[in-house]
Amino acid sequence: MEKWNRKKLIKEYIEFFKSKKHKEIANFSLVPEHDSTVLFTTAGMHPLVPFLLGQRHTAGKRLVNVQKCIRTGDIDEVGDAVHHTFFEMLGNWSLGDYFKKEAIDMSYEFLTRILKIPIKNLSVSCFAGDKDAPKDEESAKIWKNLGIKKIKFLPKSDNWWIAGETGPCGPDTEMFVNGVEIWNDVFMQYNKTKEGRYEILKQKNVDTGMGVERTLAILNNLDDNYLTDSFLPIIKEIEKLSGKKYGKDEGETRAMRIIADHIKASVFIIADGILPGNVERGYVLRRLIRRAVRYGKELGIKDNFTCKVAIPVFQIYDDYEILRKNKTKITEELEKEEEKFRKTIEEGLKAAEKLFSGKIPIERKKFIKLMQLPNHQEILKELWNKKREGKDYSIKEANISEKEIDNATITGKEGFLLYQSFGFPAEMILELSREKNLLFYRGEFRIELEKHQELSRTSSSGVFKSGLADSSEETTKLHTATHLLNQALREILKEDIHQKGSNITAERLRFDFNFPRKLTADELEKVENLVNKKIKEKLDVKCEEMKPEEAKKSGAQGVFDSKYREKVKVYSIANFSKEICAGPHVKNTGELEKFKIIKEEAVAAGVRRIKAILE
Ligand code: SER
Repeated sequence: MEKWNRKKLIKEYIEFFKSKKHKEIANFSLVPEHDSTVLFTTAGMHPLVPFLLGQRHTAGKRLVNVQKCIRTGDIDEVGDAVHHTFFEMLGNWSLGDYFKKEAIDMSYEFLTRILKIPIKNLSVSCFAGDKDAPKDEESAKIWKNLGIKKIKFLPKSDNWWIAGETGPCGPDTEMFVNGVEIWNDVFMQYNKTKEGRYEILKQKNVDTGMGVERTLAILNNLDDNYLTDSFLPIIKEIEKLSGKKYGKDEGETRAMRIIADHIKASVFIIADGILPGNVERGYVLRRLIRRAVRYGKELGIKDNFTCKVAIPVFQIYDDYEILRKNKTKITEELEKEEEKFRKTIEEGLKAAEKLFSGKIPIERKKFIKLMQLPNHQEILKELWNKKREGKDYSIKEANISEKEIDNATITGKEGFLLYQSFGFPAEMILELSREKNLLFYRGEFRIELEKHQELSRTSSSGVFKSGLADSSEETTKLHTATHLLNQALREILKEDIHQKGSNITAERLRFDFNFPRKLTADELEKVENLVNKKIKEKLDVKCEEMKPEEAKKSGAQGVFDSKYREKVKVYSIANFSKEICAGPHVKNTGELEKFKIIKEEAVAAGVRRIKAILE
């Protein structure tokens, strides 16, 4: 059998499509160029969205490339033989040029003539059709004429591709080699709107994606992507550092895969300009590095090792100039973050141990049963909501009573303390608690985190030493501006708007709130005008302290959690706005001068974000 390696596969793919009149385009940054709703580039099509929607691409209508991608949705799955956060994707595109026939013909030719996959090993799936789009008989017929015998029709959940909630999308046809998916041709002819409608696009596009790691495994007859040359040198280095053998013990093998994947991803993320931090991409990076360090510890690696694991990453991917250029910086950042984390990890693990020992674990048998329920994540998510609403929250499917749940629960606040004092990311707390048959819900943790970030950004008392505390004149003003914005949105949009998140730097405010659609230019203008009107009116800002119940009764907005603190501060801006908040605020709105919205965008389904500044 022919041996395939990473570079050869990429070369053959690009050459093949070049011979079919495709232009090779750049491998884009992992940080999406157009500020979008995703943190990282998750597929080759990502940077091409404007062109799939009809904009002209300077390289023409037929494109090909290999694209580095990060998918963090699968982070918990990493550790088995096939999941990764970082991977490379080969792709070819037609921007309103060829469609199903040519796309499938070319896929078939590449698979059988170049990769030499015997036709008897190939099978495909096509879209089964539903109310939004018809059954894809056309693709099935093309495959059939090419001699493919095994053709399945599957619903949207399998054979439809979209990058997120909205945008270009369409039915796809997937190709399998002995049952393992190798390639995906998406026929992008729809645009899904925020209202959930599928509009026909101006042009019919093709978007295909072939994962390099998985394809290499298939071609080399391996059932483990970590044994391909995209990973093996990294695994070997980890074996050397730990003195453990890959493939021998299940837990150790899993730890090695997590380290290999996470450090590789971290190297690429740092190369693209991100540094470990407490929010967004920086936080993902921090989580990846810290999780790798923790598993390194489990393998018994004593000294700093992440920058050693990075060496084979540089070797494997020596075709990436961005890695070569940033090698020193990447190594230094890994070292720094590892050092920082190691200082506290021992103490943190002890504190976690102590916290856990105060709980009564769920009986192992029941816990396993719960974890094996396909919808266990949903169950756990529901559970905390039910509990809050005073409903029955026992888990009947696994025979777990409310009392057992209460006894085994690590609360969001307890988890948050581990995060705050020892820098343990939520995933790590979750993993640690799972190992002990305890329950921990990240959603609740996130609420604590948000509350804290809000407080630490604005608190002048300096109690919260997260490094985020900032109560300069600018942030104080922006904080008051946020309250004005919140109320203005409620009045203009005539909806029950609530704050879903807030982040203030010295330069700008960022406010997330519930709303189902994009705001029109007219609405934005009205909101901006109303805030400016309230600034011009020079309204007094008043602060009172009261019990949360009283605050609620008085009509103040905010999170009502009476457990949280005895008394809360309520800030009123004349009779325009009233919110629970830790402050600080300006004394009079006149200090703000001029308010300007600079951006409005979606952050999640039903959540919008406004960025604004004071001029
Ligand atoms: N965008 C599709 C995918 O990620 C095809 O590239 O599978």
